[in-house]
Amino acid sequence: MTVSEEGVVKRDGKSTVVVLGASGDLAQRKLGPALFHLLSSKTLPDLCSFIGFARSDYTNDQFRVFLREGVQGANDSDWGAFAERTSYFQGSSTDVSALTRLDHLIARNCPDGLTDDRIYHLALKPSLYPETLLALAESGSLEESTGSRRVVIEKPFGTSYDTARELNHLIHSILNEDQVYRIDHYLGKDTVQNILVFRFANTIFEPIWNRNYIDHVQISVLEDLGVEGRGEYYDTSGVLRDMIQSHLMQLMALVAMEPPASSTPDALRDEKSKVLSAVRSIDETTVEVHSARGQYTGYLDEDGVDPASQTATYGVIKLFIDNWRWQGVPFVLRSGKALKRKATEIAIEFKRPPQAIFGVAGDAMPNRLNISIEPDEGVHLEFVNKTPGSGVQLASESLEFHFPGGTIRDAYERLLLDAIEGDASHFNRSDEIEHSWKIIDQFIEGWINGKQPLLRSYQPGSAGPPEAEHLLGEGRRWLLGDEN
Ligand code: BG6
Repeated sequence: MTVSEEGVVKRDGKSTVVVLGASGDLAQRKLGPALFHLLSSKTLPDLCSFIGFARSDYTNDQFRVFLREGVQGANDSDWGAFAERTSYFQGSSTDVSALTRLDHLIARNCPDGLTDDRIYHLALKPSLYPETLLALAESGSLEESTGSRRVVIEKPFGTSYDTARELNHLIHSILNEDQVYRIDHYLGKDTVQNILVFRFANTIFEPIWNRNYIDHVQISVLEDLGVEGRGEYYDTSGVLRDMIQSHLMQLMALVAMEPPASSTPDALRDEKSKVLSAVRSIDETTVEVHSARGQYTGYLDEDGVDPASQTATYGVIKLFIDNWRWQGVPFVLRSGKALKRKATEIAIEFKRPPQAIFGVAGDAMPNRLNISIEPDEGVHLEFVNKTPGSGVQLASESLEFHFPGGTIRDAYERLLLDAIEGDASHFNRSDEIEHSWKIIDQFIEGWINGKQPLLRSYQPGSAGPPEAEHLLGEGRRWLLGDEN
C-alpha cells in the first residue's frame, strides 16, 4: 500500500509492458532501448516486466539478442537485469486464444496482493489496429478488475478525418478515453515540452503573444534523409499525412493555445483542441494560395515507390486561427525530406517598429524568437543593438539558452514512463486528432484531386523548391539560418 501526498491510498502494483509487434523495427530501434534505459537508470517501478509478442518464432533468448542489437553500449550487468525481466510470447495480435493465454500468464505472474497493471503497446501495421483492439477486448485482456489497462497506439492514427473517427469510435466502444495513449513522439521531446514551460512559467512573453505584436509564425521540420527504405508506406502517405497532420500540428497547437487552468492532461488537451478547432477552413479553390508542394529528384527510383508517383516529399501550408488572439497572423508549417540539413525550429517574428527613426536598417530587423527543437536545443531571442562606434549603426544580436549537451532523454523513454505512470498529458486525445485531420483533408483533397498547386521538383540536399517562399507573403523570408 502507498499513500499519496493527497492522502489517496493506492494498492502497490506490478506493471507489465506488452509490446505487440515486438519483432519489428520500432521495437528494436525505439521501444527496447527506451525500456532498457528506463530500467538501468532506475526510473521504473521496482516491479516491472516486459513481454514481446509477435508471430516470429523466437525463444526468449533469441528475442533478447534481437533487442540487444538495438541498444548501444549496454554493459553486461545492466543488460542482465533487463533481460531477466524480458520474455517473448509467440502469437498473432488478432488471435483471441493467443491473447487469452497471454492474459492468463501475466495474471499468474502477478504476486498476490498487488494490482496487475498493464500497458499494451501497439507497434503494429496500422491496418491491424481495429482487429487487434477487438481481439484484446474479446480475450478479456482489457478488463480492469485486477489493475489498470492502458493501450498505447502509434501514429499514423487514421489516414483521413473519416478513418480516424472510425478508429476512435471503435476504441471508445471497448475502452475509456483515459485508457488510450495515442503517441506523437514529438510530444515526448524535452524541447517540445519546454514550449509550455517557456510560455506559462514566465510572465514576460504572455502580453506580447498575440496578433498585436506577432507578425507571423514559421514552424519548420526539415530532414536531410530521404524515405530510407520506407518507400512503400511513404508513397501512400506523403508529407501531409506523415509529418504535418501530427508533429507540426501539435507544435502549432502548443504555440497558439491559451493558458490552461491547470497542468492536468485534460486541461492541456482542451486548450490544444480549441486551437485546432479554430483553424480557418479553406476551400479547394484556395488550396493553391495556402500551400506549396515538392518532390525530390530521385524519389521515383526509391524502392516501393510508384514510378509515376505524385506524392509530395516537401510541403508548406499556411493556416490562420480564427480567434481573438491570432486573427490575421499566418502560421506557416513546412516540412520535407532530402533537404540541406535536419532542423526543427519554431520561429516567431514580431512586428516591426511603427516608425523607422534610425533609418531603414533598424526597420529591416524585426525581433525574433526561435524555439529550436533539434539538433540545436534551445531558445534564441533576437533584438537590435547599436554597434559600438560613432554614428548609429544597428545590428541584430541574440540572447540564447541551450539545454546542456547529453541531458536530453529520448522521447520514447519519457512517453513510455508517462504511460506506465498513467499521465496522458503528452499524448493525443481523440478530438485533437480529428481536428487535425479535418484541416489536412482539405489540402489532401486539393493536392490529389484538384492537382494544385503544381508539384515542383527539388534537388536532394537543397532547401526545397524556391517557389514555396512566396507563401510567406511580401517582405518575409524563411527564418532558418542558412537558408536566407
Ligand atoms: C516520423 C515520420 O513520425 O517522424 C518519419 O514517420 C520522420 O518520416 C520522423 O522521419 C522524424 O522524427 P524525428 O524525431 O527524427 O524528427
